[in-house]
Amino acid sequence: MRITNYGHSCMGVRTAGHDLLFDPFISGNPLAKAVDAAHIPVTEILVTHGHGDHVLDAEAIAKRSEATLISNYEIASWFEKKGVQRTIGLNLGGGVTVGKLRVKYVIALHSSELPDGSYGGNPGGFVVSGPEGAFLHAGDTALTQDMQLLKRFNLKFAMLPIGDHFTMGVDDAIIAAQYMGVQKVIGIHYNTFPPITIDTAKAKAAFAEAGLELLLPEIGTTIEI
Ligand code: NI
Ligand code: MN
Repeated sequence: MRITNYGHSCMGVRTAGHDLLFDPFISGNPLAKAVDAAHIPVTEILVTHGHGDHVLDAEAIAKRSEATLISNYEIASWFEKKGVQRTIGLNLGGGVTVGKLRVKYVIALHSSELPDGSYGGNPGGFVVSGPEGAFLHAGDTALTQDMQLLKRFNLKFAMLPIGDHFTMGVDDAIIAAQYMGVQKVIGIHYNTFPPITIDTAKAKAAFAEAGLELLLPEIGTTIEI
């Protein structure tokens, strides 16, 4: 799998011929100025919850790419009303098979209002499983014991928020990784805004001390897992 960091929680994952794009928030991210949202390859857009820092560029990217937008039912319906042609609206615990992949919407402990004040349903994360293995994009979440249920997916890695303030921080993300049984974590949702600015060297050291690996690829770069 090839994972590209587009900043904040916006991550691209190339696997099994799919180009998944999670939580598009590029044009509003001061750290992602070098990212060209108009040319990101994308076959499916996965939106974890309704907050602006996760949905901002989803409509424009969906319209130019004709990618399928997958989210919860309320968010999928909201985008449908905006003219996004292909949407799939899940709810917690439910999944869908898309091509070679199984996409499952799993619990996140957070909130989910859409930018215009519309109800954004329950927030979630996505477990994606396919021929190259399974992984999690956790969206925005607190630490919750439900994460122990994700062990059964044998996740190769998890993208977890580590920025604190609006989501769990480093210490809780370490426990989350242990609950899920993942050794490799890609940090998301940090450094974009002053309240979620963290010491990345300290974060990596804390993960290492727990026997885990924290990967923090630079914005615009791609890693292989
Ligand atoms: Ni949020
Ligand atoms: Mn957020």
